[in-house]
Amino acid sequence: MNDTEALKYAAAAKALEFVEPGMKLGLGSGSTSAAFVELLGMKVRDGLNVICTATSNDITQKARSLGIALAPLADLAPLDLAVDGADEADPALDLIKGGGGALTREKIVEAAAERLIVIADERKWVKHLGRFPLPVEVVEFSHPVTRMHIAKTATAFGYGDIPIALRHKNGAPFKTDNGNLIYDCTFGEITDVPALADALSCLPGVVEHGLFVGMAEALVLARAGGVEVIKPVR
Ligand code: A5P
Repeated sequence: MNDTEALKYAAAAKALEFVEPGMKLGLGSGSTSAAFVELLGMKVRDGLNVICTATSNDITQKARSLGIALAPLADLAPLDLAVDGADEADPALDLIKGGGGALTREKIVEAAAERLIVIADERKWVKHLGRFPLPVEVVEFSHPVTRMHIAKTATAFGYGDIPIALRHKNGAPFKTDNGNLIYDCTFGEITDVPALADALSCLPGVVEHGLFVGMAEALVLARAGGVEVIKPVR
């Protein structure tokens, strides 16, 4: 295991302390969440009783293979707790998510949870969101027109003519678990996160974007020097 992987497991292990018997849990997606699911699977094997819902097909498969009980979100909501990774987190604990493409299901699941705990290694901690390209999930129908709306919004908000790239995988446009496409939008430093989030949410053709505003209760941040639980400064 390399250093970054070890930090992911350290954050995941700390987040397990938030889990209590009988809880209804939301499982995030991505590699840090996968580490959490592995550790949770070990606890379940040792007798922990929880019921979970997953934010992607990958994590559903992983949780199932580890013997973790799963149910649809609609049968469980409201959830007691969701645990998920992030691509960037700022001091307000606003997040960029969706590097793995699961942003829409993540937002639906996490908005249905009483508490969201974010787990991350130190690379994800930033002063300002926006260096990581913001994923925006769009319906396939006439998606270049939706791209145009995103570009106009970026210009109107003063970010200029930003790079907006249709995500590809294995030489073809990437499809989310919902059958949609993703545009990765490099805003640079995002100066007003809530305003941009609201504006993107209103665009025709946009299904969801990866700005998670005011949702996280705490960030479990793993650094070389140790693991810290950070509360939002709002
Ligand atoms: C999945 O779509 C994402 O939101 C992930 O939670 C995020 O990209 C973090 O992934 P890693 O833990 O793999 O960095």
